Amino acid sequence: MEKPSNTLKKIYHPSKEVKKRANVKDYEPLYQESISNREDFWAKEAKRLEWFRKWDKVLDASNHPFYEWFQGGRINIVHNALDRHQKNATRNKLAIIWEGEPGDLRTFSYHALHREVSRFANVLKSMGARPGEVITIYMPQIPETVIAMLACAKIGAIHSVVYGGFSVEALAERIEDANSRILVTADGGFRRGKAVGLKSIANEAMKRSPTIEVCITVKRTGEECYMENDRDFWYHDLMSMPLACSDCATVETDAEDPLFILYTSGTTGKPKGLVHTHGGYAVYTASTFRYVFDIKPEDRFWCAADPGWVTGHSYMVYGPLINGATMMMYEGAPNHPYPNRWWQMIEKYGINILYTSPTAIRGLMRFGPSWADRHNLSSLRLLGSVGEPINPEAWKWYYEVIGKGRCPIMDTWWQTETGGHMITPLPVIPLKPGSATKPFFGNEMAIVDDRGNEVKTGEEGNLVIKNPWPGMARTILGDPDRFVEKYWEKYSEQKWYLAGDSARKDEDGYYWIIGRIDDVIKVSGYRLGSAEIESALVSHPAVTEAAAIALPDELRGNIIHTTVVLRQGVEAGDKLSEELKAHVEHEIGPIARPAFVVFTDALPKTRSGKIMRRVLKARALGQDTGDLSTLEE
Ligand code: WTA
Repeated sequence: MEKPSNTLKKIYHPSKEVKKRANVKDYEPLYQESISNREDFWAKEAKRLEWFRKWDKVLDASNHPFYEWFQGGRINIVHNALDRHQKNATRNKLAIIWEGEPGDLRTFSYHALHREVSRFANVLKSMGARPGEVITIYMPQIPETVIAMLACAKIGAIHSVVYGGFSVEALAERIEDANSRILVTADGGFRRGKAVGLKSIANEAMKRSPTIEVCITVKRTGEECYMENDRDFWYHDLMSMPLACSDCATVETDAEDPLFILYTSGTTGKPKGLVHTHGGYAVYTASTFRYVFDIKPEDRFWCAADPGWVTGHSYMVYGPLINGATMMMYEGAPNHPYPNRWWQMIEKYGINILYTSPTAIRGLMRFGPSWADRHNLSSLRLLGSVGEPINPEAWKWYYEVIGKGRCPIMDTWWQTETGGHMITPLPVIPLKPGSATKPFFGNEMAIVDDRGNEVKTGEEGNLVIKNPWPGMARTILGDPDRFVEKYWEKYSEQKWYLAGDSARKDEDGYYWIIGRIDDVIKVSGYRLGSAEIESALVSHPAVTEAAAIALPDELRGNIIHTTVVLRQGVEAGDKLSEELKAHVEHEIGPIARPAFVVFTDALPKTRSGKIMRRVLKARALGQDTGDLSTLEE
């Protein structure tokens, strides 16, 4: 993002109305209190949940960076998201309003969701699912995705949701890493008026990763798909059996027991399975959801993300359900059949809070304001943004055309690793377009140089988090060393968490996120690794070496540019370039499809053999390649 120009200096103050209804009227005193008595603050927040047994210790920091929260506490997140709501009026409230892309509608009250989750939990048990095992979920955006996640957690199993837009190799790799025995999937989902098959991809992935013994398939599109005897079962068949009864006890888990793993991209080709827990994660998502979105019982909240990403986990499923909120879920593309689809749904269902990504906003902005202007959007009172820096034009459009100048925008900065919002406004914080504003309660941040010295106000540096927080990932599945190395080694002396983003802090203490400092590429807010794309390219018989970089793009934030070295005798050309793009799409998914494939005889490397991506980027942008003194001969 460019430096703020004068037009950006405008500060948007909250209206009287926003202030009047806000849960927190004044950020500063509560923030000060939360950092001077961090454990007390989190203990107070934790008391809003129901525990089977209260914790002995709020925070155990004795084994840095493997922090433990609410040590000794017994809890289950599903007890808090569903079971406890059955005792009061929330039981009759809508938990999920779901609209399919073709226009079909399904709703679930808290009672119904609890029932369906219990029934599916019994199905999983009948398939031998055990507490502590990892169950992989590969689904479109349908209510069964949420049901499957909660059913896993209810019986103490660990879910690993793989984004439905991922493809064969991405899925196979994640199944294998987690050593998953059960897979829950669907025949497909609807996207842009077409049925997109998932089971066929799952079948291919299961061939590559033979650990799957049981595959349960939800029928969504009705497409024909191959079902293997003794391995494949239809969800509706199992759910119609007597074993799928609605009585299922929620397993008591330890506060620190894993709730889910979620894979995310890093600097190496192998995705990291970040581990989140039942206790701390429940407290953190519940608190951030309540404070940031200022949730009220009458609200209808829509997080237009996919459950396959962390935003979906924290703010479609757990944050809203723990708070007893009503959440909206939509299956398909924002502009199908016309670019007013979202605005139509906001009007139809009376949505009060919309949380989405800058890419989605820019995508809809392209079609002009008239599509939104046709609808009554007066139910909206708060907007949210996540996943990438929001550029000022998009911010203004969102604020004016969608929010009609009434709705504050919560630009929330966080990561798969953090579990929930870390730098974020609250509705009462004055806003500066493009800034995620201030740290959430309990958190202290800094912008530092490579040695850990704070940089001057306004200067760019590494963003670090100075303290533990309950929602933090506990480790990388099966690879604690990598967890230490990636996040904690750089500032090990100070015990700071390295976020992997560069940022600036202005004279008012507002944070401005600039972008990744590692080889993570954000395409349309989706997180991908250069190395994943490179290994997909190298898995093609024509390619010996490959390098992937991000180039800035007005709509998607970034696009993928690749440079490949071909095997001897293979002819370069447009046909091969198209074939390689399709190959990456088949291996990882459509989001990873390179925009460019460039052929070369040799990649620029340092003497120690590291690809100089900086040089590739400069070349691709037609800029000066800078200092090449470390370049290999
Ligand atoms: C980026 C998504 C600017 C950032 C929740 C971070 C953002 C990465 C913002 C994590 C924001 C997320 N402003 N950049 N409001 N939110 N990012 O793990 O680079 O998919 O490190 O989690 O997204 O991506 P992830």
